[in-house]
Amino acid sequence: MEASWLETRWARPLYLAFVFCLALGLLQTIKLYLRRQRLLRDLRPFPAPPTHWFYGHQKFLQEDKMEKLEETVEKYPCAFPCWVGPFQAFFFIYDPDYAKTFLSRTDPKSQYPYRFMTPCLGKGLLNLDGPKWFQHRRLLTPGFHCDILKTYVDMMAHSVNTMLDKWEKICSTQDTAVEVFEHINLMALDIIMKCAFSRETNCQINGSLDPYVKAAVELRKIIFYRMYNFWHHHDIIFKFSPNGHLFQELSKVLHQHTEKVIQDRKKPLKAGMKQDNTQKKKYQDFLDIILSAQAENEDSFSNADLRSEVNTFMLAGHDTSAVSLSWLLYCLALNPEHQERCREEIRSILGDGSSITWDQLGEMSYTTMCIKEMFRLIPPVTSISRELSKPLTFSDGRSLPAGITVVLSIWGLHHNPAVWKSPKIFDPLRFTKENSDQRHPYAFLPFSSGPRNCIGEQFAMLELKVAIALILLHFKVTPDLTRPPVFSNHIILKPKHGIHLHLKKFPKC
Ligand code: HEM
Repeated sequence: MEASWLETRWARPLYLAFVFCLALGLLQTIKLYLRRQRLLRDLRPFPAPPTHWFYGHQKFLQEDKMEKLEETVEKYPCAFPCWVGPFQAFFFIYDPDYAKTFLSRTDPKSQYPYRFMTPCLGKGLLNLDGPKWFQHRRLLTPGFHCDILKTYVDMMAHSVNTMLDKWEKICSTQDTAVEVFEHINLMALDIIMKCAFSRETNCQINGSLDPYVKAAVELRKIIFYRMYNFWHHHDIIFKFSPNGHLFQELSKVLHQHTEKVIQDRKKPLKAGMKQDNTQKKKYQDFLDIILSAQAENEDSFSNADLRSEVNTFMLAGHDTSAVSLSWLLYCLALNPEHQERCREEIRSILGDGSSITWDQLGEMSYTTMCIKEMFRLIPPVTSISRELSKPLTFSDGRSLPAGITVVLSIWGLHHNPAVWKSPKIFDPLRFTKENSDQRHPYAFLPFSSGPRNCIGEQFAMLELKVAIALILLHFKVTPDLTRPPVFSNHIILKPKHGIHLHLKKFPKC
């Protein structure tokens, strides 16, 4: 039988295309196989917990498996390789000497999770590297000078009082536990919007339906989901997945919000109202600092840079503070004796709390120890990661080659029984001067350390002190034992279903 027109004309190209695809597939398989073999060889000096050949340790790492991590820390001293699928491994470390070696270098941030964050945040301080990071860090550091932070105390207190008024109303009408995380999250957003951008959003009054807050929460979840599901690492697969679609929608909400913040400030400047605007404010806010950095460095600080930094500070500046305060309240609710000691200290320094000064906050030593102990027990940022740009040798002589992703598990470090006695116990006295002096300087790293430490550490500590002082002056907190919080590790350690506390208002003196 004679071959059809189609067969003669298309058979050969189709055959060639098939062979080409097959060769490509084979090449890719060989590449992945060699990658796995190389990783296995490089990580051999470090024993790992049993792993599934395909999923690796993926299941074990997801979401709220903090106890699993603690068990591993106990069994595998210093570090362990953690497989995410068959061809990717993260190298987890949680030993102070290992942390010191790791943080004293300037390796770039790892692709994970920052590659997944970039489409929504842009490239800001958190995910920049090299000279550009250095330039931004230098330009933005003055925004956190203590003279500027001092001017925030009143604004912070005002936002906390708005939340306390809400709590007072709720407590007078109901005798049930209150889910405090949502309130605190809005309060922290209110604070960052006021302090950093001089923007009155009224988000505490308008409620959690704020589209920006919702978008920020959902975006974090998706980024974390993507990080530990290797088939979604591929951009095209992710883009066409339901999560990828949602990610794009939510990123739009985030960008519109940022753009509005910037344009609202630029408008009066463009209209020549700079004079009036600065005269009205007693301080330079963060946006003033970025805008003047942009004006002075127009060539090297683009509009995109500006947007990325605003996004970064809005997100980094409220989420972390909100979870920290929520966990702190929970720790103090579970430990009434420490709560009472803090309250006594705060009363003796602040009286009824009608005015708070920077210097008074510096005197709250017991409360500060409780804050530090909360950061140890429940570090809001559970890990940070870098991709090695050159080989790294640890103090015990074991080495890793360039290209490996190293994850410093802050949770693992803070729960490492080789470093902390009874790590599960809330004991603020670990942070007395004598006890701290004896400790390894890299044993406690809630804000990381070295050149890429948290730029907002002092801001966060200030906010926590103002908030906890005012809360404890007005309310006694006790846990709702029927609804204990559950961890949800979405880059930041959040309470999955919130934090439910009984709040008892003290009568006004
Ligand atoms: C309790 C609150 C906070 C905690 C626990 C925390 C923790 C951290 C940690 C661990 C890092 C290092 C990240 C890494 O190396 O990958 C970091 C970096 C950073 N944090 Fe915070 N943070 C907090 C609050 C804040 C606040 C309030 C702001 C801003 C107002 C902020 C802005 C940043 C920025 C911009 C970076 C990147 C710094 C750089 O790489 O130069 N953080 N933070």
